[in-house]
Amino acid sequence: MKIAVVEGDGIGKEVIPAAIEVLDVLALPVEKVPVELGYAKWEKTGSAITDDDLAVLKECDCILFGAITTPSDPTYKSVLLTIRKELDMYANIRPIKPINGIVGVTGRSDFNLVIVRENTEGMYSGIEELHEDVAYTKRVITRKGSARIADYACKLAKSRQHRLEIAHKSNVLKSDRLFLDVCRQTASSYHIDHHDTLVDSMAYNLIVHPNRYDVVVTTNLFGDILSDMAAALVGGLGLVPSANIGKGHAFFEPVHGSAPDIAGKGIANPIAAILSLKMMLEWYELNHQAKLVQDAIEFAINQNIVTPDLGGISTTREVGNTIAERVKQLI
Ligand code: NAI
Ligand code: MG
Repeated sequence: MKIAVVEGDGIGKEVIPAAIEVLDVLALPVEKVPVELGYAKWEKTGSAITDDDLAVLKECDCILFGAITTPSDPTYKSVLLTIRKELDMYANIRPIKPINGIVGVTGRSDFNLVIVRENTEGMYSGIEELHEDVAYTKRVITRKGSARIADYACKLAKSRQHRLEIAHKSNVLKSDRLFLDVCRQTASSYHIDHHDTLVDSMAYNLIVHPNRYDVVVTTNLFGDILSDMAAALVGGLGLVPSANIGKGHAFFEPVHGSAPDIAGKGIANPIAAILSLKMMLEWYELNHQAKLVQDAIEFAINQNIVTPDLGGISTTREVGNTIAERVKQLI
């Protein structure tokens, strides 16, 4: 196992060490390759990610990633978009599942869904122009890009409850007519029960009727927004992990960003990062170890060893230590 470890900026530097502590107690044959990327590096060197960094990332099986701060400078090129494009990580998988012992804003725990977000095109295609009085962002949707994300979502639905929800805005956006058509055709070919919803209505229904959904497939920007919103169902951004899957490579990161408002205080919730590690273990088919990590997270929550975002008084380190120690006991 050769894993690139990118802490990044802000709370990435706090939550990733907590996840690594948990990885270390599993005593797996892992080579960890630290890679420095992000805003701090950009300030120092003028480049947030270099070709050499990309080459190192490509040599690793996968990446465990914290978060990166995005400056407002228009010349800055997004590290995340660069990695997703360069390594062709087309599927962004965001499981939205209740965690035992935590109740989200809606107070319900009868849901278990996955948001599958197309990760390489759509509104984040990077084809943009910024002028004095007008700016353009081209939204590119291709048949090929839509087909491969639809294929991924259908395979996932087959392994779950065989239900696919397609979230789109085809009543306004021609690009989404193509996306919707391709998703429908793919779902029919897989004999998957499929349905579609306009994304604005989806935003409402996701909060009011989250139990209606199994696998939700959508385009890049919509998936970005819906998944942060869905984090509220689970109990906050500090709890939701994600996987970016490509052909042969993958990268795992919490859904949250670098949280400058709490960075450096030692109070960031490390659970999203540790659940991202759990998704990595599942990707390696280390399902027993993944289960241990899940059990240890629930143990910390049951002991009320949680950070302030969950109403606790523990630090990032204390939560990480508790989870790592529990994994050690469970092995
Ligand atoms: P954010 O996710 O960093 O923070 C939103 C709110 O949630 C803040 O109040 C923060 O304190 C809280 N929060 C987030 N993670 C938490 C955790 N683990 N524990 C406790 N509280 C947590 O989003 P925001 O503030 O919009 O963005 C901050 C920076 O991060 C920006 O520069 C943005 O571009 C970047 N960003 C980076 C991402 C990435 O690298 N994947 C994803 C999202 C944002
Ligand atoms: Mg986001």
